[in-house]
Amino acid sequence: MNILVTGCKGQLGTELQKIAISDTLHHWYFTDVDTLDICNKDAVEECFTHNQIDVCINCAAYTAVDKAEDEPELAMLVNAFAPKVLADACFKHQALLIHISTDYVFGGDANEPYKVDDTINPQSVYGSTKAEGERLIRESGCNYMIVRTAWLYSSVGKNFVKTMLMLGDTKDEINVVSDQRGCPTWAHDLAMALVALLNKNGKNEVHETFHFTNEGQITWHDFATAIMEIGGKTCKVNPITTDQYPTKAKRPAFSVLDLNKIKEYAGIEIPDWRESLVKCIEELNSRLLRSSQISDSTMRSESMTRSDAKPRRGDRTLSR
Ligand SMILES: NC(=O)c1ccc[n+]([C@@H]2O[C@H](COP(=O)([O-])OP(=O)(O)OC[C@H]3O[C@@H](n4cnc5c(N)ncnc54)[C@H](OP(=O)(O)O)[C@@H]3O)[C@@H](O)[C@H]2O)c1
Repeated sequence: MNILVTGCKGQLGTELQKIAISDTLHHWYFTDVDTLDICNKDAVEECFTHNQIDVCINCAAYTAVDKAEDEPELAMLVNAFAPKVLADACFKHQALLIHISTDYVFGGDANEPYKVDDTINPQSVYGSTKAEGERLIRESGCNYMIVRTAWLYSSVGKNFVKTMLMLGDTKDEINVVSDQRGCPTWAHDLAMALVALLNKNGKNEVHETFHFTNEGQITWHDFATAIMEIGGKTCKVNPITTDQYPTKAKRPAFSVLDLNKIKEYAGIEIPDWRESLVKCIEELNSRLLRSSQISDSTMRSESMTRSDAKPRRGDRTLSR
């Protein structure tokens, strides 16, 4: 199958790129806004026709949750109208659309994990635009799988894990909210789940919504504490309430997602949040080590070049 990935330079798109390296089953086409702006209907149509796309995995989105409160039109364009452009192209070309949505479509006032069919009630501009994107996809008539996720992190881009590790290096103590409960998602695990869904379904007719996060449920304070501990930081993490940390966009107090449907449908087991956090931090540490080794060896070769710059026989410039 020919698979188009949009927004490929983001957290999720990057993980799909890593998986695609060893995938011999499919042809992958990776694009981001510089090569395929999903708001551009003609460009999307041209891409589907030219590459005979069978599946589109839409990782592109407007993800700046607080900024969206000031830029609702732009957020709506990227998170709702552009997915409609992709859905229409999928309908026309009989392709499958795999679209990523969010826990922010829910109201956040539940006390047990949200099931796929629970009533949505977004509390922020970001959540509303993502909910509208879901609605437009369902109405388009295309084959789709909408996968809602939450608290996404990876070793690339900006995310909570990288911010905490950076604060752990520079602060003695920090305050983190302890009254918002959810579950983190390592982008690598989500990417693997998307490929499992794809391989399970193939090009068969499908109109389904799923939830995917890692297993378990914690608060942001629990998450920050684990990041410091696993990352070997001594920074103290103090619990605070949401009222003590006001943000422009309202965050759901409870956004744990029920994972049973995706586990049954795709036949997958989902790693516990802590197990995946350990792997992501190991990946970050080995990347840091590699880059320090590279800069070390660059410095060594530079200083060798300078100290070795002795006249060589036959080298006219240096032998004079
Ligand atoms: N991050 C989270 O915590 C979280 C939580 C729940 C759900 N999700 C959902 O999960 C999905 C993946 O999130 P992510 O964290 O991987 O996102 P991300 O890192 O922000 O990546 C999104 C990518 O889409 C690109 N993009 C923006 N506008 C575009 C356009 N018009 N055409 C093509 N590409 C465009 C972005 O480019 P620029 O960077 O240049 O704008 C970026 O490379 C999104 O649907 C998001 O809503 C994320």
